[in-house]
Amino acid sequence: MSFTLQKKKLLPIFCVFIQIVSITLGFTVFRLLQDTHLTAERLIELTEQGHDKGYILVNQCSRGEKMEPIIQTSRLVKKFGNFTAVDELDLTVVKGEIYGLLGPNGAGKTTVIRMLCNLLVPTSGEAFVLGKKVPDKSTASSIGYMPQETALYLGLTVHQLMEFYGEIFGLPKDAIKEREKELLAFVDLEKWRDSLVATLSGGMKHRVSLACALIHEPGLLFLDEPTVGVDPELRFSLWDYFRALKEKGVTVLITTHYMDEARRCDKIGFMRRGRLIAEGNPTELLEKTKTDSLEDAFMEFSRKEVNP
Ligand SMILES: Nc1ncnc2c1ncn2[C@@H]1O[C@H](COP(=O)(O)OP(=O)(O)OP(=O)(O)O)[C@@H](O)[C@H]1O
Ligand SMILES: [Mg+2]
Repeated sequence: MSFTLQKKKLLPIFCVFIQIVSITLGFTVFRLLQDTHLTAERLIELTEQGHDKGYILVNQCSRGEKMEPIIQTSRLVKKFGNFTAVDELDLTVVKGEIYGLLGPNGAGKTTVIRMLCNLLVPTSGEAFVLGKKVPDKSTASSIGYMPQETALYLGLTVHQLMEFYGEIFGLPKDAIKEREKELLAFVDLEKWRDSLVATLSGGMKHRVSLACALIHEPGLLFLDEPTVGVDPELRFSLWDYFRALKEKGVTVLITTHYMDEARRCDKIGFMRRGRLIAEGNPTELLEKTKTDSLEDAFMEFSRKEVNP
């Protein structure tokens, strides 16, 4: 009798206990699911809480897209003698993103790109490109690099130059021919195919340089001021092309001083004196600084950095 009574008394306590356990378990499972199917907001939240970005980015976001990091640097430093050109840079660029690196002359943008392209050895910190720690030449065939200073063989014709680049990347003759035709049409230089590179104008040399960087259909493109000296009409169509590449899953890291171009990037990183002082999509950066132009937004972030 007393045993039955005791059981009756214990029953509600047991029920409450079961309820607490279920809620706790449910919440844990929910958080776990959230962490494996991350929403963009949750990603930001976790990052702000100081969780490791690399861990977070290899997870999938809720839209089913893979936030796969293609470039990832951690406290990356480049010194020239006593001068620090790149200062503890943490940068992540995910697959299919057009990331614009912006900043004044001497901010360190080209130096970052040169390290990521295996052309300069970092002083300290580390950088991973396509999963390989730089410098690592094995990624070269998957990378397209258009340098800021056009470094073309002036004594070759446009056709010879493109053939030369195609061969460097081991493309078969037929593929080179096809790509050359396609790319010369794209940069509007078909008429100049048999002209010596030396005889082209500055803007045209830039266009050839871009075509050479694209010949092997790289999955990752580094474009260092690709539209300098290019006329506005072509500049516009180049950006349409970059967006089309992005749709195919190509990742682009680009530098520019044109703010209308910067607005077409998925994400922007503002650099100043070797440091990344702000990052976000163009709209976010304007909203954060309550400004109408990215120039003003940059000035605002610079001011905050000097006088926090
Ligand atoms: N090989 C080098 N030796 C010494 N200093 C260098 C070297 N390369 C770059 N620097 C210095 O590092 C700093 C960053 O240069 P970098 O070319 O990366 O700037 P940037 O942001 O690309 O500028 P810009 O917008 O003019 O292209 C500059 O002060 C530059 O003088
Ligand atoms: Mg530069």
